[in-house]
Amino acid sequence: NKANYLHFMAKEIHEQPEVVGHTLRRYVDMAAERIALPQRLPFDFNDIGRISITGCGSSSYAGHVAKYWFERLARVPVELDVASEFRYREAPLRKGDLAIFISQSGETADTLAALRYAKAQGLHTLSVVNAPTSTIARESETMLQTLAGPQIGVASTRAFTCQLMVLAALAVAAGKSRGELSDADETRLVQRLIEIPRLMATALATEPQIEKLARDMAKCRNVVYLGRGTSFPLALEGALKLKEISYVHAEGYAAGELKHGPIALIDETMPVIVIAPYDGVFEKTVSNMQEVAARGGNIILMTDAKGAREAIVDPLVTIVLPDMAATFTPMVYDIPMQLLAYHTAVVMGTNVDQPRNLAKSVTVE
Ligand code: M6R
Repeated sequence: NKANYLHFMAKEIHEQPEVVGHTLRRYVDMAAERIALPQRLPFDFNDIGRISITGCGSSSYAGHVAKYWFERLARVPVELDVASEFRYREAPLRKGDLAIFISQSGETADTLAALRYAKAQGLHTLSVVNAPTSTIARESETMLQTLAGPQIGVASTRAFTCQLMVLAALAVAAGKSRGELSDADETRLVQRLIEIPRLMATALATEPQIEKLARDMAKCRNVVYLGRGTSFPLALEGALKLKEISYVHAEGYAAGELKHGPIALIDETMPVIVIAPYDGVFEKTVSNMQEVAARGGNIILMTDAKGAREAIVDPLVTIVLPDMAATFTPMVYDIPMQLLAYHTAVVMGTNVDQPRNLAKSVTVE
């Protein structure tokens, strides 16, 4: 049931503070401010030489964000593949290493095949799934559930942010077991995770501004999304969401890649969505924005109050998101991305919950 919403997607977007909160409480001891995984892991993170992360579509982008977290917080190298490539590229895999599979439905054929392949190679397999009785959940050695609730809209919204929450908790757990994070680091990071649902609710308040922006977006044929660090996979996810439900062509790039080709696309008809919380790479992203501004591109900046003050260039629109510590920004910055795709699709009059040519669960390779 859609409650008072026009589409399931809108309902699913708005329910995120709640379901991400449920997921948080499954993986965090709120009172002790510690990570508390619901089960003992059948491996020791100290024995893991490398983590392979695999998924499709939005789930692969959640994995892409998690790569930054595992590498930064646990100092463990991560390799990321879309599931349809993982099996065929004959990667040298080491027995006893860890392979993580991310899937909302738990039935995606490519991800399942990749899981079976990793198992056959002697890797530990851990899945992050929303459907706990799905094939991927059953066949993996360890299953960590996202508590996103049933997913009706084809576009992944709350499944994605709940995946991020589980992966963030797991990355902190990994950092702790590998001695890369102290007790104090863990407490600090857990406090940041506990803040996320409230920050997501604040981010939802940008909706009227985004709805207005969507009216212009619906007139465009192409849109570029840029981000650095963990905002890079978010740029990919934002672009996927827009094209998937509104059929407006969109591409996401690492902001630094702009000058290696995509900049040729920029002119006064091109909106460029820049995801840039005020973090360690903000200044670098500002120089990419200057490159866009110099070519007449229309910048739509997603940032915080400090970023809005320091941006130098004059964006067409600035969406100001709540102030927060840098590590876990993707869970909050994804909200305006989802809202923009949603409202653009509504203006375009597409079938938001069931876009053409797409299925909720892709069970063929
Ligand atoms: O069920 P899964 O998470 O395995 O599905 C993977 C992709 O098919 C899925 O994320 C797809 O990209 C979404 N429609 C994106 O919104």
